[in-house]
Amino acid sequence: MTTFVANPGLEGIVASDTDICCVDQGKLLYRGYTISDLAEHVDFSEVAHLLIYGDLPNKDQLASFQQLLDSYHGLPRPIIEMIRSLPKDAPMMDVLRSGVSMAGHFDPTKGESLDDLRKRSVWLLAVSSDVVAARFRLLNGKEPVRPKSGLSHAAQILYMAHGTEPDETSTRLLDLTLVLYAEHEFNASTFTARVIGSTTSDMVSAVTGAIGALKGPLHGGANERAMELISRFKSAEEAATWVQEALARKERVMGFGHRVYKNGDHRAHILECEMRKLAEQKGRMDMVAIYDAIKDPIVGKERPIYPNVDYPCGLTYYLLDLPLDLYTPLFVCSRMSGWCAHFIEQSQNNRIYRPLSSYVGPKERSVTAVAQR
Ligand SMILES: CC(C)(COP(=O)(O)OP(=O)(O)OC[C@H]1O[C@@H](n2cnc3c(N)ncnc32)[C@H](O)[C@@H]1OP(=O)(O)O)[C@@H](O)C(=O)NCCC(=O)NCCS
Repeated sequence: MTTFVANPGLEGIVASDTDICCVDQGKLLYRGYTISDLAEHVDFSEVAHLLIYGDLPNKDQLASFQQLLDSYHGLPRPIIEMIRSLPKDAPMMDVLRSGVSMAGHFDPTKGESLDDLRKRSVWLLAVSSDVVAARFRLLNGKEPVRPKSGLSHAAQILYMAHGTEPDETSTRLLDLTLVLYAEHEFNASTFTARVIGSTTSDMVSAVTGAIGALKGPLHGGANERAMELISRFKSAEEAATWVQEALARKERVMGFGHRVYKNGDHRAHILECEMRKLAEQKGRMDMVAIYDAIKDPIVGKERPIYPNVDYPCGLTYYLLDLPLDLYTPLFVCSRMSGWCAHFIEQSQNNRIYRPLSSYVGPKERSVTAVAQR
């Protein structure tokens, strides 16, 4: 029997070429632009256009993109009724997975041309934010609101959730997190979407699978877990004691570590700076003291482990008064753009993913009849 050596977690395996994103120790690039340049100069809609259409939009292209996105907002009634019918304690990520999957039956974009796939990507951006906002309102005893044309993606999400136009700070910071979350090369959920796409299945199936992958706390679910951890402590001293004990127990601290980045996550650095300013503005430096009390000993270890983007994101969303179970769904509202870009790239130059495994089961043996077993 041929034996192969396994690479757990596919670490170090290059699965495909890509034009979309480069995750490197020194830089994070979306289609050639550094993440710091994008975070400083463009908003999420421009980033989504960059990922889905291949380049940053000019003024007219941006206006058309916004118009298309606006036109796709608003869930068909059966989806709202399905969301209403789900148990109240169903996790928001599960509701989102079901909502996006069901929306596939009402997909207004038809066909499989490149243009159709791009339109479907924009429609999925609208659908995912509509489902999150609708569920949030229904849980709070309120009916979903109609979206308002002309709002940025971040402002639209907040508007559809709260029913009022958001303030400038909330919109700007949510938008920044959407820019930072939009794309990250062959991470677990994107790879899931590409694997599904590689079977020549459809885009809705691919992103539904990707939502399931993103939910896990080792992936996108970490932003909620990181904030749960920070909220557990009443003081920085309490947090500092806990973290020393956790490190001694070799416990994984959520929001830290990364398969690729070994010297820190560029996105975490950008967001942490903004989060600190927000905390100062909101008079919540007590939370930042807890944040630092957890972070400093982990970064200060002999073999340091750095925060990933989910660590500052958890506290940013908390400071924006967003409820905990919206954190990972908001990640979906952004990463949908990256998933769709990868689905399209995979479909344009496809070869089905089919890795090998290293068999470590029993040696060949013979079947005995059931009565003798
Ligand atoms: C992201 C993650 C899954 C990457 O896993 P990975 O590439 O398989 O990392 P490894 O398991 O090889 O970790 C390397 C070492 O760092 C340690 N480590 C990694 N992440 C850690 C964390 N969050 N807290 C404490 N120690 C951690 C591991 O225990 C391991 O130590 P060892 O060599 O002494 O055994 C992992 O860092 C993790 O679980 N982080 C917490 C969840 C999280 O924040 N996910 C969001 C990612 S963007």
